[in-house]
Amino acid sequence: MEAELQAILAQVERDLPEIQTPAAFEQYRATISGPNGSFTAVTKTIGKLPPAERPTAGKLINQYKTRLQELYDAKFAQLEELELQKQIGPAVDVTLPSPDPQPGSTHLITQVREEICRVMRKIGFTVADGPEIETEYYCFDALNTPADHPARDAQDTYYMDPEARIGNVSRKGTERYLLRTHTSSVQIRTMLSEKPPLRILCPGRCFRRDTADATHSANFHQIEALYVDRGVTVTDLKADLDYLFKSLLGNEAQIRFRPHYFGYTEPSFEVDFKASHLGKVGSDWIEIMGCGMVDPTVLEEVGLDPNEWSGYAFGLGIERIAMTLYGVDDIRYLYQNDLRLLRQFA
Ligand code: DAH
Repeated sequence: MEAELQAILAQVERDLPEIQTPAAFEQYRATISGPNGSFTAVTKTIGKLPPAERPTAGKLINQYKTRLQELYDAKFAQLEELELQKQIGPAVDVTLPSPDPQPGSTHLITQVREEICRVMRKIGFTVADGPEIETEYYCFDALNTPADHPARDAQDTYYMDPEARIGNVSRKGTERYLLRTHTSSVQIRTMLSEKPPLRILCPGRCFRRDTADATHSANFHQIEALYVDRGVTVTDLKADLDYLFKSLLGNEAQIRFRPHYFGYTEPSFEVDFKASHLGKVGSDWIEIMGCGMVDPTVLEEVGLDPNEWSGYAFGLGIERIAMTLYGVDDIRYLYQNDLRLLRQFA
């Protein structure tokens, strides 16, 4: 019996190198180890041996079975590797330069954000940060926006499950968390953690429960500015916004203030701009942002004496500016990452 087993093993050792595909390998293996295979036939003869010889024969068969299996495994691994190579092609030389001729570029929203920050940095503003998951205190209460204000409606933004507490940022401990509806919350965080004079900018993401259409998105970006010092007046606000818009749009750009209401500023204004010299924005006034003088109630809330300190604040929508300036007529284009749009601003 051993001679037969030995012969089969030798045969397999000779045949395997010739086999090129997994299918051919399976076919070949069946002729040896399949139900009608030559090796299987030898193993069946064990039943015809005298009982005393069977244990030894069984051991021998197992030894050959193991050696055969090793040969199969090695061959199979080699074939798998070959198949993989066929699929991925020749080995990649990672030391070669990238074949991609298109370098990446910043998104239009990033470009507009950076440009506004760059302009404002020149007049002393630095960038401050705040969390996107906010408490009602920072987002509303401290900004003089009481509980019955429509902005507090649960339908207006995304409120967290009250059980899901995130860190220990809540002042009162029992507050609800929400996705911030504006970056104005950073005004409060900054005034509580730093002493004036303050000049901060806060670019960031905001959320509202809006149904997406050409001008609405549940997720958008704002830049907030806050300037608190002794003797800050509306003149500073107007002069700085004039400077910002002229820097962004050219010296011909004009702005105008219209009275408005925001809980956290008094007086409050909406700002329109006109830049007729830029053909693409037309010759009409375009409403662009909100601003005002920090309400004394807000200053008191953060422990500042309104008789000593005053300030201005403004908040603008980055998408709004980007769309107006670059003629993007649907806000959704800004989030679809379609290269045809992105490349126009690369
Ligand atoms: N937070 C306002 C909004 O989301 C924008 C705004 C208005 C910000 C007036 C301000 C401000 O800082 O003073 O519509």
